[in-house]
Amino acid sequence: MMSTNEGAPFVIRPMLEDDIEDVRRVGQITWSDVATRDIGKKVRYPVRPRKVIEAYSWSDPQGCLVAEKEGEVVGSIFSHVWGRVGWIGPFEVLPELQSKGVGKALFAAAEGHLLRRGCAITGLETMAHVPRNIQFYMRAGYTPGDLALISTKVLGPAVGSNRLERAGEGARDELLAWSKAASAAINPYLDYSSEIVMALEKDLGPVFVLRQDARIKALAVVHAYHPLAEADHSSLRLLLMPPDEKDEGAFREVMAGIEHRMFEMGRRRLFARFLSSKVQMFNLLADLDYRVEGANVRLSKPRDYAEKGEFNMAAWAG
Ligand SMILES: CC(C)(COP(=O)(O)OP(=O)(O)OC[C@H]1O[C@@H](n2cnc3c(N)ncnc32)[C@H](O)[C@@H]1OP(=O)(O)O)[C@@H](O)C(=O)NCCC(=O)NCCS
Repeated sequence: MMSTNEGAPFVIRPMLEDDIEDVRRVGQITWSDVATRDIGKKVRYPVRPRKVIEAYSWSDPQGCLVAEKEGEVVGSIFSHVWGRVGWIGPFEVLPELQSKGVGKALFAAAEGHLLRRGCAITGLETMAHVPRNIQFYMRAGYTPGDLALISTKVLGPAVGSNRLERAGEGARDELLAWSKAASAAINPYLDYSSEIVMALEKDLGPVFVLRQDARIKALAVVHAYHPLAEADHSSLRLLLMPPDEKDEGAFREVMAGIEHRMFEMGRRRLFARFLSSKVQMFNLLADLDYRVEGANVRLSKPRDYAEKGEFNMAAWAG
């Protein structure tokens, strides 16, 4: 039991299935408030789909936490473990309860969870234009690194062939063995297995592979969990190409294949988030008509976390 600096007690505890609707409500109120302040007029933010909250809780039940005050959920936070790299997000506290210590307690609990799970690197991405957040994380010992550029493309009907293959449950062992080796080559602490397993099990969107002579060359996880009636975008959660893979053509082929498939599935926009240090990829994406629409800053602890390879993307954002 902890108390806000006005004295009212709150507890931090694992999220339960019964909390999900409250967590959705807290997220919608909090992000509507952020957007309203950003834009200067009243905005109602869309509510987060239940499916993705269920998936995160399924993947890491002890890493999804709520803050409860007088029987009400007033904040929530999610943890993600990718091997020995752990990241945090989304993270929110109801506007009227902000700046009272609730966020600090939630964050410390999530970070403690990541450390108990053996993470050697912990991190997160936050909006680059919100100094208050940057201060919050720097106070917790995090150092800003690259920008994570949020780019988007309006999709249209594709031309040409598409060799991209949609992977199913049957390919799970092969995908995990390949992705473990590819992740470790990017950073020895990384292992994206849990993300791939979650996408396959929880139907968050398709997992694609590009093969050459039956050998996997690239793997992508695309999130498309918003019901089409509510939102027609999709988002590249993970694009994995081993660092020794320098084939621009393969990267272009994967991107074109994903765009094609997502358009066929009714999606009209694709988000791709990538680190600003990947200049070659930035140029290729610009050439493919992706437009940078926003920037997060990535913070990590310790500070010297780096990812090898040019054609990799992984969103540390929920
Ligand atoms: C970010 C957020 C989760 C933090 O939760 P919170 O309950 O407001 O945070 P706390 O009250 O525990 O804040 C503690 C720290 O934040 C910083 N902080 C708080 N109020 C601040 C202010 N008005 N200006 C600058 N820094 C401030 C301080 O560093 C403070 O540390 P201190 O107590 O050692 O001074 C919450 O503000 C929020 O939901 N914001 C909107 C959504 C969002 O931005 N989520 C994070 C996305 S990555």
